[in-house]
Amino acid sequence: MCGIIAYSGHRPAVPVLVQGLKSLEYRGYDSAGLAFVHMEKLHLFRASGKLEALEAKLDSGHVLHATSGIGHTRWATHGLPNEVNAHPHLDVHAHLALVHNGIIENFQDLKNMLSGCGCSFRSETDTEVLVCLISHGLNQTGSIREAISWALNLIEGSYAFALISKDHPGTIWAARQASPLIFGQGTGENFVASDIPAFLPFTKDVVFLEDNELVEMNSSQWTVFNASTLAPVSKSIQTVAWDVQAARKGGYKHFMLKEIFEQPKVIRDCLSGRIDRKTGNIHLPEIENLPAPGRLHIIACGTSYHAGLWAKYLMEDMARIPVDVEIASEFRYKPLVPEQDKVYLTISQSGETADTLAAIALVKKHGMPVLGLCNVVGSSIARESDHVIFTQAGPEISVASTKAMCSQLVLIFLLSLYWAARKGLLDRQTAEKAIAAFETLPGILERSLPLMRETAASIGRKYSSSRSFFFLGRGIYFPLALEGALKLKEISYIHAEGYAAGELKHGPIALIDPDFPTLAIAPPDHLLGKVKSNLKEIQARKGRIIALTQEGSGLEVDDTWNVPRTWGYLNSFFMLPALQLFAYETAVYLGKDVDQPRNLAKSVTVE
Ligand code: M6R
Repeated sequence: MCGIIAYSGHRPAVPVLVQGLKSLEYRGYDSAGLAFVHMEKLHLFRASGKLEALEAKLDSGHVLHATSGIGHTRWATHGLPNEVNAHPHLDVHAHLALVHNGIIENFQDLKNMLSGCGCSFRSETDTEVLVCLISHGLNQTGSIREAISWALNLIEGSYAFALISKDHPGTIWAARQASPLIFGQGTGENFVASDIPAFLPFTKDVVFLEDNELVEMNSSQWTVFNASTLAPVSKSIQTVAWDVQAARKGGYKHFMLKEIFEQPKVIRDCLSGRIDRKTGNIHLPEIENLPAPGRLHIIACGTSYHAGLWAKYLMEDMARIPVDVEIASEFRYKPLVPEQDKVYLTISQSGETADTLAAIALVKKHGMPVLGLCNVVGSSIARESDHVIFTQAGPEISVASTKAMCSQLVLIFLLSLYWAARKGLLDRQTAEKAIAAFETLPGILERSLPLMRETAASIGRKYSSSRSFFFLGRGIYFPLALEGALKLKEISYIHAEGYAAGELKHGPIALIDPDFPTLAIAPPDHLLGKVKSNLKEIQARKGRIIALTQEGSGLEVDDTWNVPRTWGYLNSFFMLPALQLFAYETAVYLGKDVDQPRNLAKSVTVE
């Protein structure tokens, strides 16, 4: 995880770096730092805690003179989140400074080797080993580019790093292997960063760097090299469509709230150009050449995994495709049995989740096809997959994923319809009903979100002193119950478990008492009768219940929360934001840091 940025240009670099780090804080925020060269000296500023702590250390004097530098926001992997371990790290001579995202797996061996050569270390980090290794290579080769190439040849693991040298003010070297790194070309200024929003206010022209590529840049020139051979690599510039506002809070108190309220737009954007209203056909040109699978294996993590579980219900029902869903970190270490007609579907917002990437590598090693459902264009998962469908949710900044899941569900729904139609299983009436409901969905959701938020706030307050929660659902609402529980624990730190409603009596019901409430997703559908019985069992044990339901459910519980009603599976698009808002309002009431919950980072690029 961690976020890195480097800048070389005509502006004062420090404000550019700090602004970039602000937009990268979602990647880690337990310490931050930056370095630049001024008056032939390397200047280093680091602080533990949030970015404000670093800003407080930046006095306005000479920091404004530098026009190039590097910055870092950290999510600790090696060593405590304190100032000594914060990046940038310097080599022993304080000639080089380096920021790094990733893990050097053989850092201990390299550290021993360097110690044997007289190198001493100040921090516990693998990053300091990397900069000292490059410095060692520099002593031998006399060229930074060659020293980097030599060092990268020795290291095992993942990295995206940026390096500056006291002896070459204005020049920056950056390279990647299994961690994201994007180059941004401006006018008289150039950037590299872990993610595009870090330099989006300055340029939309980007180059997606590949593994084992090294970029050398200053304010006016840049060249990409193969990091092993140092042969120049020709790269094409792409212009991203993201707008700066999308990566800002836009008047909302938190990114999470903004992103929840963006969901009607997300649904519209995901549907745009995908449905032919006259014929009812679904357009997914990205998978035109991929026949409907005989079996689908979905691999993902966290919220994306919950979207995968939701997909299982839809695919099996509508397209009659048997579906397995697995957590990527489990899948990657299991033997893979290749099956004819099987397609592997990976789901990821960031496109950089290390476990999901490893799962893709395993699938490809066995020659099986991978379809990626991914939000970030140019991300590693998007590039590694054989076929990609982009979810078009726009930048998601809040660590707690909300609108990304909404977009994943829309695409999964379209994919189910598409494969059902290809298999001749989709009758005209169902297609028409689904399409008509989809068309009205964004408008209804838009109108209902403000009231949903008010209800979430009042129920959230009422139950905010609870230490634990159950979230229950049946059918497609079981994955949403898991998601509701994840959202609550992630940002409010209240312990919460999601369960299939019928499973409670097999053990967990032992926990129920008046202080252990349950939020049940219980819409008036064909499973309501079953859910009602499960809720009666809870009430018999004096458990309090919030029912997230719709008009006409006839439920008699402590709190009934009605949301609008639509056609079939699409009702999930009302339940999901209600669960997100419940977690959000509870966390806000409890005074938690909603966008940057403790111990977490947005993209989990380490194992
Ligand atoms: O970027 P991805 O969708 O691959 O990320 C997967 C999970 O890390 C992510 O969904 C995580 O669980 C979120 N913090 C949940 O809100």
